[in-house]
Amino acid sequence: MGKTPASMTALPPLKKILVVGGGGRENALAWSFTKFQEVEEVYVAPGNGGTQEQQSCHRLNIEESNKEEIIQACKSLKIDLVIVGGEKPLASGLADQLREAGLIVFGPGKKGAQLEASKTWSKELMNEAKIPTAKFWKASNNKEAQDLLFEIDKPLVVKADGLASGKGVTVCTSIQETKAAIKEAFEGKFGEAGAKLVLEECLQGPEVSVFAITDGERLEILPSAQDHKRLLEDDKGPNTGGMGAYAPTLMLNKEDLEKIKKNILLPTLDTLKKRKINYRGVIYAGLILTKDGPKVIEFNCRFGDPECQALMPLMPSNFAKCLQAAALGCLNKVQKLETSPLKSACVVATAYGYPENPRKGDLVSIKLKNSQESQIQLFHSGTKIDQDGKLLTSGGRVLSIVSQGDTYNEAFEIAYKAIKKIDFSGIKYRKDIGYQVRGKGN
Ligand code: AMP
Ligand code: GLY
Repeated sequence: MGKTPASMTALPPLKKILVVGGGGRENALAWSFTKFQEVEEVYVAPGNGGTQEQQSCHRLNIEESNKEEIIQACKSLKIDLVIVGGEKPLASGLADQLREAGLIVFGPGKKGAQLEASKTWSKELMNEAKIPTAKFWKASNNKEAQDLLFEIDKPLVVKADGLASGKGVTVCTSIQETKAAIKEAFEGKFGEAGAKLVLEECLQGPEVSVFAITDGERLEILPSAQDHKRLLEDDKGPNTGGMGAYAPTLMLNKEDLEKIKKNILLPTLDTLKKRKINYRGVIYAGLILTKDGPKVIEFNCRFGDPECQALMPLMPSNFAKCLQAAALGCLNKVQKLETSPLKSACVVATAYGYPENPRKGDLVSIKLKNSQESQIQLFHSGTKIDQDGKLLTSGGRVLSIVSQGDTYNEAFEIAYKAIKKIDFSGIKYRKDIGYQVRGKGN
């Protein structure tokens, strides 16, 4: 991705950006912003062990929950645009507080973030907007839920209402399992997040992630991506945050994406507007492509991780300007995003014990040149640099190895070759990421 001329628009300058978060997604966003000629510095709070490695990127040692310090840093560093990466700070109202302090922010406020933070709220919005989704029932205690199950008499998907770091969903294959999942949730398995439940009919079909950037009025849709949620090859084992991804997918062509925009994304935005919510950020629709067409299984209020790592190298260099325009409510003032025609592959290397109990503190060795122009990107997630300057694992998902090629085969071949140059005790990764598109001449 080369540098392009500065924007031709009348938007304010975009010299300094702050990204809030410390995962692979934030690392990839920061990397993509440095490609825009106008951008001089990108700060990431709290960032991770990879932040300083990226040209023009700086780590701020401020937790994403520390609103006061984030606001102070924005003021003293004269930040032009803040991007809030994750759902937790968004759901806690960080974007509202930053806006109240006069900052330009990409990311919805607390009300809009309920799209992800409350499954009940989100399902009710989908029903109001007539968005195709799984049938659902709400329950606020065990008896109510078990009575509903008795009436429905089918295995269901049991979802904690609140944020549970991707762990609050059980897809049950029998009534017995559904009963047990309901009971466990009301016994406190997901803490406060499971105080209310959503029970859903189980949908069948492949899953795909669709991302749109919105300024509250208009939408710009990005290439679709496919995540790999299960820990083990052949989609076996427990759910994780995501073991790898690729983009674009072959499951949705241009017309399909247009239909998704018309039937799912625009009605969502209209309904948010009816609720007086000025939503400026990402609408991420997790879809299942059923035989009756795409249905929403969840909305998220931010980019997916690791989908974002696969997507960012496909973005044109004016991507940062597009997010600024969305944050200012004027997406119409920037050129449409011309994304790369390449295929992008992302493989996640995880720590020993992930996802249950990831071990921290293993020494990470990287024998890979991370050049700006190369078709390989190494995005850090759970890494940190200790007092002696050593790079150590510090979380479950440690690194994302991302690569592009003319074909999926080529992209994955480069990524899998590159991952061999990375090592830490207990490293694990799936060898079959992109199996849906590899080896098929695409
Ligand atoms: P969520 O956190 O809502 O994305 O759910 C986690 C995972 O559970 C999804 O990625 C799907 O694989 C699965 N899932 C969620 N809802 C349904 C559903 N209604 N039918 C089938 N699978 C589902
Ligand atoms: N990769 C799934 C997520 O970010 O929720």
